[in-house]
Amino acid sequence: MIESVEREAKELHGLAAGSAPERADWTIDQGWDNYSPAEHAVWKVLFERQSKLLPGRACDEFVQGMKNLPIGPEQIPDFRRLSEVLMQRTGWQVVAVPGLVPDEVFFEHLANRRFPAGQFIRKPHELDYLEEPDVFHDVFGHVPMLMNPVIADYIQAYGRGGLRAQKLGVLDKLARVYWYTVEFGLVQQADGVRIYGAGIASSLTESIFSLEDPSPNRIAFDLERVMRTRYRIDDFQESYFVIDGLDQLLELAHIDFGPFYDRIDGQVEHEPGTVLPTDRVISRGTGQYHRERRNTAKASI
Ligand SMILES: [Fe+2]
Repeated sequence: MIESVEREAKELHGLAAGSAPERADWTIDQGWDNYSPAEHAVWKVLFERQSKLLPGRACDEFVQGMKNLPIGPEQIPDFRRLSEVLMQRTGWQVVAVPGLVPDEVFFEHLANRRFPAGQFIRKPHELDYLEEPDVFHDVFGHVPMLMNPVIADYIQAYGRGGLRAQKLGVLDKLARVYWYTVEFGLVQQADGVRIYGAGIASSLTESIFSLEDPSPNRIAFDLERVMRTRYRIDDFQESYFVIDGLDQLLELAHIDFGPFYDRIDGQVEHEPGTVLPTDRVISRGTGQYHRERRNTAKASI
C-alpha cells in the first residue's frame, strides 16, 4: 500500500517506458483506419455493457455529453470527429498518445485544452483490468464530461495547476484532487448520488461498487481534506468524495491552491478509508470489502 501511494503521482500519468517519442508533445496519429475488426469488437462489448449500466447511475451531464458526441457501439470513435464537436462546444480536442506520458507533457496538453487519449484498446481477455488508460477509458469515461463547460474549465485549470505544483514539489497533493474528482468523483443530484468520474464511469464493477456497495465511505468533498488523503490505484476506492454539484468544480478552477499547500505542509496524511470527526459523511462504509482483501492477502503470505 505504502509503495503504491508513493508511486501514485507517477502512476497517474506516469513516466512512459520505452523509447523517446517522435514528437515532443508525445502525440501520435490515431491511425483510425488501422483498427482491426477485433479491436472494434472489444469496443462494442465495453460500450454496450457500460451503456446499459449507466442510466440512473451517471450524472445528467455525462448522459447529455454522450448523447451529443459521435460515439456509438459499432466502432472505436475517430478522434478527428470527436474533436470537431468538442471544439464547437467547449474548445477542447482529443489527441492520441501511445499510453502513459510524462506528467509535464500531460499537464501541458490539458492547459491547452487538449485531452491526451490512449490510442490502443485493451485485449479481449483483460476487459476489466487495465495497466494504462486505453481508448475506452479515455474516450468513453472522460470525453462526455469535457462537453460540459464547467468540467472543460476545471480540467484546463488542473493542467495549469499541475505545471505549478511540479515546481512547488506538491504534485502528490494536487494529484489527489484530480483522482477524487475527475477520475473517481461522485456528485449529489436531485435524484441521488451519481457518477461523474471517468475511472468509475468506464468501469463495470466500480460503477456498482461506488454507488451501491455498503463498503466504501461517501464523504462530502472538501479540498484540504482531499489533498491530505491517499488513494488506491490498484483496487476500488475505500472512500469516494461527493460534490454538491458541478459548480463546486468551477470554484476550484478559480481559487489559488497556494495557501492550501502551505497549510497542509507537514501535516499528517489520511489513509484512504479513514473517516474524520470533521467529515460531512453522506454514507459511512462498513469497510468490509477492503478488510476481506487485506485478510486474504495476509493469509497468503
Ligand atoms: Fe482517466
